[in-house]
Amino acid sequence: MPRVIAVANQKGGVGKTTTVHSLGAALARYGVRVLLVDLDPQACLTYSLGLDPETMRASLHDVLAKRVHADLAITRVGDLSILPASIDLAAAEVQLMSRTGREYALARAIDPVISDYDIVLIDCPPSLGILTINGLTAADSVLIPLQCETLSHRGVGQLLETIADVRAFTQPDLEVLGLVATMFDARTRHGREVLADVQIRYGLRVFEPSVPRSVRFAEAPAAGRSIIDHAPSSVGAAAYNEIAHTIAVEAGIITPAPEHSDAPDHSDAGGVVPI
Ligand SMILES: Nc1ncnc2c1ncn2[C@@H]1O[C@H](COP(=O)(O)OP(=O)(O)OP(=O)(O)O)[C@@H](O)[C@H]1O
Ligand SMILES: [Mg+2]
Repeated sequence: MPRVIAVANQKGGVGKTTTVHSLGAALARYGVRVLLVDLDPQACLTYSLGLDPETMRASLHDVLAKRVHADLAITRVGDLSILPASIDLAAAEVQLMSRTGREYALARAIDPVISDYDIVLIDCPPSLGILTINGLTAADSVLIPLQCETLSHRGVGQLLETIADVRAFTQPDLEVLGLVATMFDARTRHGREVLADVQIRYGLRVFEPSVPRSVRFAEAPAAGRSIIDHAPSSVGAAAYNEIAHTIAVEAGIITPAPEHSDAPDHSDAGGVVPI
């Protein structure tokens, strides 16, 4: 069974899309078969892979509207596959509201194709609306990117309430995988304090290492690439490589490295376990 991970936080601009793209690219380098799902009508993930949502033959909106099979909308970009978004997805949000079983539309749509992949990463929009509920219902776990600022914990509390509702009503097996601290500035005490507070308050796991704030992240999407391809030796790429490695090892998709080296490059760190 593939792992389906929703990357969610209703707060805007905290690094959801960057986390999906960077983790996806890092996982693909380990030989993991990755599908990215752009569940945000802003289509930022689609753009950051260098695709133009305006000229695509089909997008997630067509799939949710049952006009197109998911297979036909999935596009290959390098070693990543993506189910792209377009602005039409905003209309899907409205159309879904009047549909029976609306929470399951995404889960049903991707069900026939996910066995082709080891990990599916869903980029949720910055809201707790029906699209995000669809993302959580289709997932088996949630990864929460967190920008450590004052009051960040309030957003996490609301998200955890939504996750509890999803567990109660539509996806009882949904787990919280943990937090990824994004745009982290280790030099200030404030960031560390906010992270420690959220960790203790909600008993959530925090993935190591934190992802540092770096201008390399802003440059990468403009070049249609992830940080992993754009700046492979940057500390940002190293952080996402390490988190991706942890996720893939814990999911039983790759074997752990025989010995740990301090070098951030894990590309030789283990073989793919055939599934
Ligand atoms: N570690 C980082 N250091 C510096 N800039 C970053 C980092 N991570 C992301 N960014 C930048 O922050 C901005 C917001 O990131 P991103 O689009 O990933 O957030 P998001 O949560 O997906 O936003 P939205 O809620 O609008 O979907 C982008 O310009 C991105 O390039
Ligand atoms: Mg985004």
